[in-house]
Amino acid sequence: MNEIQTLIAAHRTIRAFTDDPVPDETIARCVTAAQQAASSSNVQAYCLIQVRDAARRAEVRALSGDQPQIEQAGAFFAVCAEERRHAIAAEDAGQRAERNFESFLVAVVDATLFAQNLVLAFESEGLGTCYIGGLRNHLADVDRALDLPPYVYPLYGLCVGVPADDPGTRPRFDPRAVWFDDRYPSDDETRRWIAEHDERAAAYYAERGAPGRDWTGGLLRKVTKRLREDALAFYRAKGAGID
Ligand SMILES: Cc1cc2nc3c(=O)[nH]c(=O)nc-3n(C[C@H](O)[C@H](O)[C@H](O)COP(=O)(O)O)c2cc1C
Repeated sequence: MNEIQTLIAAHRTIRAFTDDPVPDETIARCVTAAQQAASSSNVQAYCLIQVRDAARRAEVRALSGDQPQIEQAGAFFAVCAEERRHAIAAEDAGQRAERNFESFLVAVVDATLFAQNLVLAFESEGLGTCYIGGLRNHLADVDRALDLPPYVYPLYGLCVGVPADDPGTRPRFDPRAVWFDDRYPSDDETRRWIAEHDERAAAYYAERGAPGRDWTGGLLRKVTKRLREDALAFYRAKGAGID
């Protein structure tokens, strides 16, 4: 692997941070680099709200599963997909920006490519990061706490700071389990990859004092529940054209 591939492959989520702040110059450098992410027709349908106010941060933490790293991290951001800038540009030109499920998807994809670039930019500076999907636990309340206008859609949080621990990298599937030639594999082949990955994940968890855990167990705890059923209604109410 080259230097950049080595950095990407060393990713691990950090959930414990020192008290050190993240300087604005560092953030500016990383945001600038991350913005060069590919963007569908360069619409750049995203924004980042840095939550600097301590009371606001505490409120977002309480609304996002009370995850301590939200307040501990040197910096905390809400990553948003957005169609508001488009609405303003169109309105000022005497036109109307259309919104539908496709334009919403474009915004979510754009925001996520930007966010992952941002994570890597921060990691390249020795900082640690933690995405916070818990931000969608109480979307309407988070939206109010962040005072977001229509057509700005909060997606997830992002903690950034100086790592206070090193959990090590978590195993992933074998590359051939996600990279297929010409066609999707048979279900039996998929089952073999799952079994292979479970074995590796079980060894990883056993090493960390959690014997008996594996990838499938964790997956099932997640995917057998219908989560955040209010998300569609929320994004609709924010003006997304996703009827
Ligand atoms: C969109 C998204 C939301 C996430 N939400 C949370 C979260 O709310 N809390 C948390 O501790 N980790 C969260 N994570 C981190 C994942 O749990 C983590 O990436 C995954 O377990 C793999 O571990 P690794 O990043 O250390 O390789 C999130 C990751 C993503 C991509």
